[in-house]
Amino acid sequence: MKKLHYAMVIASLSLVGAHSFAQPLTGTSDQDVMTVLKESFAPVGDVTLERLEQSPEQKACSDMAASGQAIPKEVMEKLLKQAMASIKPPADKQFLGDWKAGEKIAQSGVGLQFSDKPGVASGGNCYACHQMTKSEIAFGNIGPSLLHYGKNRGNAPQILEYTWNKIYNSHAYTACSNMPRFGTAGILTEQQIKDVMALLFDPASPVNNQ
Ligand code: HEC
Repeated sequence: MKKLHYAMVIASLSLVGAHSFAQPLTGTSDQDVMTVLKESFAPVGDVTLERLEQSPEQKACSDMAASGQAIPKEVMEKLLKQAMASIKPPADKQFLGDWKAGEKIAQSGVGLQFSDKPGVASGGNCYACHQMTKSEIAFGNIGPSLLHYGKNRGNAPQILEYTWNKIYNSHAYTACSNMPRFGTAGILTEQQIKDVMALLFDPASPVNNQ
């Protein structure tokens, strides 16, 4: 019974998705869609219904996809500024943690799913979208390859800061980015972002030494 319920939710979600790209549903408001979505989900563990609320950036990106109209320049500038303002630099100004812990975080897709134990530390699932090392051959390619990231770019303060910001909130540089906002959305902790940063920059990490 539970399985059937999830199957129905997924079916209705894909219907909503398909329609928003094809043509607007006549007589159906955004409000109607939200009502159906909210009635279809129940909070489980760490997964709360707040996650159905879109951030202003996500809303602008959805509106753009549904209407086929580009986001107006001044709205875009405001969204990028808001995203940048949400970024917190590391409290102790140290950008780099432990690359070994970072590799585990990059490999892990655990966290924020209804099937996860509440309170479990989330992973970054970076390999789902990026090549990072030569040794890991299972990776996605939605994002660019990050192999030799630190080796190619060095570790000047500007590149450390850019990379921290990009991981914290990718929307600060690319509106409608497909990359999760790991810091702003509360997916990874400050220490976890430091560890992933070390994976990208440490000369001894498999990102740079292979
Ligand atoms: C769902 C896919 C997805 C996941 C998961 C993901 N990324 Fe990305 N990432 C992207 C995309 C797409 C881009 C490039 C376009 C953009 O900026 O939005 C990108 C860009 C980047 C860049 C900038 C690269 C450059 O050349 O400037 C860095 C650094 C990065 N990602 C690091 C990470 C790290 C570290 C993780 C894991 C904690 C991660 N990403 C997880 C999709 C993803």
